[in-house]
Amino acid sequence: MSTRTGTQTAFVFGGGQGIGRATARKLAASGVRIGIADLNAAAAREAADEIGSGFDVETAHAGVDITNIDDTRAAVAHLEGALGPVTIVVNSAAIVSNKLFVESEPEDWRRMIDVCLFGPLNILHVVLPGMRQRQFGRIICMASDAARTGQSRMSYYAAAKAGVIGLVKSVAQEVGRDQITVNVVSPGATNTELRKAREEETRRNIGEEKYAERQKRVLRQYPMGRLGEPEDAAAAIAFLAGPDASWITGQAISVNGGFSML
Ligand SMILES: NC(=O)c1ccc[n+]([C@@H]2O[C@H](COP(=O)([O-])OP(=O)(O)OC[C@H]3O[C@@H](n4cnc5c(N)ncnc54)[C@H](O)[C@@H]3O)[C@@H](O)[C@H]2O)c1
Repeated sequence: MSTRTGTQTAFVFGGGQGIGRATARKLAASGVRIGIADLNAAAAREAADEIGSGFDVETAHAGVDITNIDDTRAAVAHLEGALGPVTIVVNSAAIVSNKLFVESEPEDWRRMIDVCLFGPLNILHVVLPGMRQRQFGRIICMASDAARTGQSRMSYYAAAKAGVIGLVKSVAQEVGRDQITVNVVSPGATNTELRKAREEETRRNIGEEKYAERQKRVLRQYPMGRLGEPEDAAAAIAFLAGPDASWITGQAISVNGGFSML
């Protein structure tokens, strides 16, 4: 079994808030050392400080722009300098779209692909050589059910996230023999800052009354009768990062209250 004993070291990209931060807390609760990397360097520091004081684990933080491979390499080097070789990598960093495709511009697509597809490409390319050398790794990337079912006003976000699923499945085939698993967690609508910002924009655009109706319609799409909380996705990510998931690789697992059943 490709399990590894001893303390694990997880780097959470986009761990400054939302699902990433909840995941970092969840992993820290089981004794994992935590490195937080985020474009928002202040949020990365705050998350690392909060987790370091709340749990008995070592933490470190780094500002990073995952669209840039040199920056990503520097952040990994900095975190490994502080915490040792990484064994678990979670990429939760993303931006979101809220435009009809015909109203979007190539610049919108480019930024999206940069963060949501080039970001994971950069991260995987930076961390995999070390993991292969050490013959162990757990990598979890985030997609979205928008990529699996399609979603209006999210076309280029969905396209980037579908790319992540293809990337993960293919890389998983290449590195399985190195005892590295690579999986995707695909959340449905989850109450995080990312979603709140998009919802606020929609509320402004369509007005209070229509927004309330829309909320009811959205909830009806969720058999479990509620939207997700960051801890819902974090639990699945922590499972995939843990010793009980050593024979799970190349999978896209939806955590979505039944929104889609794929
Ligand atoms: N919240 C949802 O409803 C939802 C639904 C489906 C999928 N997801 C996916 O789950 C993941 C986490 O989402 P969330 O809601 O927690 O997001 P969030 O916006 O709350 O957090 C994302 C973090 O990524 C960071 N980030 C953005 N661009 C970056 C960059 N270039 N380099 C480094 N860091 C960067 C942000 O600063 C932020 O801290 C994302 O991949 C998202 O696409 C979320």
